[in-house]
Amino acid sequence: MDPKLVYWTWALFNFLLVVVFASLGVRRIRERELQRHKRMMLAASALVITFLVSYPVKVVTLGREDLEVWEALSKWLLRIHETFIVGMLLGGSYAGWRAFGFRRSLPLSGLLPREPSPPRTRVLHRRAGWVAVVSSACAFLTACGVLWGMYARA
Ligand code: HEM
Repeated sequence: MDPKLVYWTWALFNFLLVVVFASLGVRRIRERELQRHKRMMLAASALVITFLVSYPVKVVTLGREDLEVWEALSKWLLRIHETFIVGMLLGGSYAGWRAFGFRRSLPLSGLLPREPSPPRTRVLHRRAGWVAVVSSACAFLTACGVLWGMYARA
């Protein structure tokens, strides 16, 4: 099997785990379970970083994809996918940065108390977090289409 296909198949599986951990993270904070939310989101972030480290290694060792032989639809799908990736990275970085800023104001154990109007920094974290979570799910779905095209061409 083409090593590039092996790499992208692994990347898709890695991405699936990102979406699973991020979804579990959202569910945990909806139950006000702060520490579990934090752990799930940090696990998702670690998987994203693993991919970001692996990608330059893949480019150096296996090279880039030859987009010349891709049909127009696949190229469009790739561009849409990359846009969602940017949304995920920007939203996730901003949410992570905000969380780092307010981490000391949070309870160390127990449930996060419900507050009618949480501090603005937490509201910004929540919005950016949603951008990251929704973008990651859309990026995963478009990645499925991109990989399907790669298998079809192989
Ligand atoms: C970059 C990774 C993270 C992402 C993508 C993320 C995402 C989210 C999302 C989507 C929500 C809103 C859920 C809802 O609407 O009910 C949320 C809420 C929250 N997150 Fe995160 N989160 C991340 C990391 C963290 C970390 C590391 C902490 C703790 C230090 C944290 C603390 C919180 C808190 C306290 C809330 C509740 C905000 C409020 O409604 O007052 N998050 N997060």
